[in-house]
Amino acid sequence: MMSEATAQTFRVSFDENNQEFSIVGSMRPQHERDLAGCVKLFEQSLQSVRGTLYVNVKRLVRLNNIAFRVLANLLLKAGGERDDLKISVITSSVVGWSTRKFNALSDIRPNIVIEEYDNEFYPGQAFLEEGGFIPILRTQTKMTWRHERGILPRHGLKPGVVMADICCGIGDFAVLAFKEFAPARIVALDHSKSSLAYARKVAADFGIQGIEYVYGDASEMLLEENQFDFVTCRHSLQVFDRPELILKELLRICKPGGRVYITNEKNSHCLGEPRGESIQWTYNEVARVWAHFQMDIELGPKSRRYLLDAGFENVMMESFMVTNLDGDPQDFADIIRSWERVYAGEMAVQRGDTPEFIERFRQGFQDHVFAALHPKGYAGWPIWVASGRKPL
Ligand SMILES: C[S@@+](CC[C@H](N)C(=O)[O-])C[C@H]1O[C@@H](n2cnc3c(N)ncnc32)[C@H](O)[C@@H]1O
Repeated sequence: MMSEATAQTFRVSFDENNQEFSIVGSMRPQHERDLAGCVKLFEQSLQSVRGTLYVNVKRLVRLNNIAFRVLANLLLKAGGERDDLKISVITSSVVGWSTRKFNALSDIRPNIVIEEYDNEFYPGQAFLEEGGFIPILRTQTKMTWRHERGILPRHGLKPGVVMADICCGIGDFAVLAFKEFAPARIVALDHSKSSLAYARKVAADFGIQGIEYVYGDASEMLLEENQFDFVTCRHSLQVFDRPELILKELLRICKPGGRVYITNEKNSHCLGEPRGESIQWTYNEVARVWAHFQMDIELGPKSRRYLLDAGFENVMMESFMVTNLDGDPQDFADIIRSWERVYAGEMAVQRGDTPEFIERFRQGFQDHVFAALHPKGYAGWPIWVASGRKPL
């Protein structure tokens, strides 16, 4: 059982510039009067607000009935007395109960609006969370692992460390790292419920205990700070429109002296022979399609700058090339075909590209497959690995 002191650990604040009243933590008072400070700050804040008042409860993880009653009364009273005001309550799907609970208030007062901020919170979300990405990730990890298993120890992965894999996707990497390096524990977090369901099933099928799969938003995690020796975030800074927010969080949860390890691509540097020109054209276009959805698939070589700007030290960087000569060329051909399905079949279509453009776009992928399977051909996909240490 929690002690009273830890049961009620929350912070309230008001940001006047953004007209945002925030509550963070666990709000479980014994009596309504225990929330007098919160009530007073809310009432004071209200006086200066015009237009929209934002009430941010994204990181309010627990709330007992006494606290909900107090908050509900405050919001309903404000909504009733100030009909000039829109009250926008910002919830998160990561805190399971919150949208449902606050929605009850908007049924009573129409000027109280509940917005689940991570419902559509980054432009590529639909492709990544519900699109055809799962088969891509499986084969990609299989091919990159051949290289990364040798690279990871140079960046600090070793037996016994406490590790986090943030934006873990379908969890293959966490399973491979767990088997090969025997960390003490891995927390693997993602915002795709279908990917996490898949990951949990894979871990159960392999009888793996010691990986904890968590639903969350990497740019606002509920994980505590300074708890991991080694934090990985692979191929994901490039899909989120504000990678610096994720890096800030990776730094926060890493222990001082621990390391954060990231991998990213630069797709315009994919290559192949024969048919090099058509291949080059298509991958330049891949970068443009991604940029259209505010994702930067060219981020790889920028990793060093990102890590230094985020406050890391001792930044190390290297690159490797996945090719058709690593194992079975058919594996690489399968990856290219799944890129074609998502990039030409889903993303270009959604961007509104013409059939002529899509045909040429597809041709480059098909030529890349041709190069990968050609008896004298060569096809490559470069990846950049970088890691930085959190200062002591
Ligand atoms: C390209 S996939 C990479 C997955 C995995 N790391 C791998 O290498 O196979 C990107 C992943 O990032 C996740 N993601 C993107 N933004 C996120 C966020 N803000 N919070 C948590 N997960 C996020 C997506 O759901 C997706 O699973």
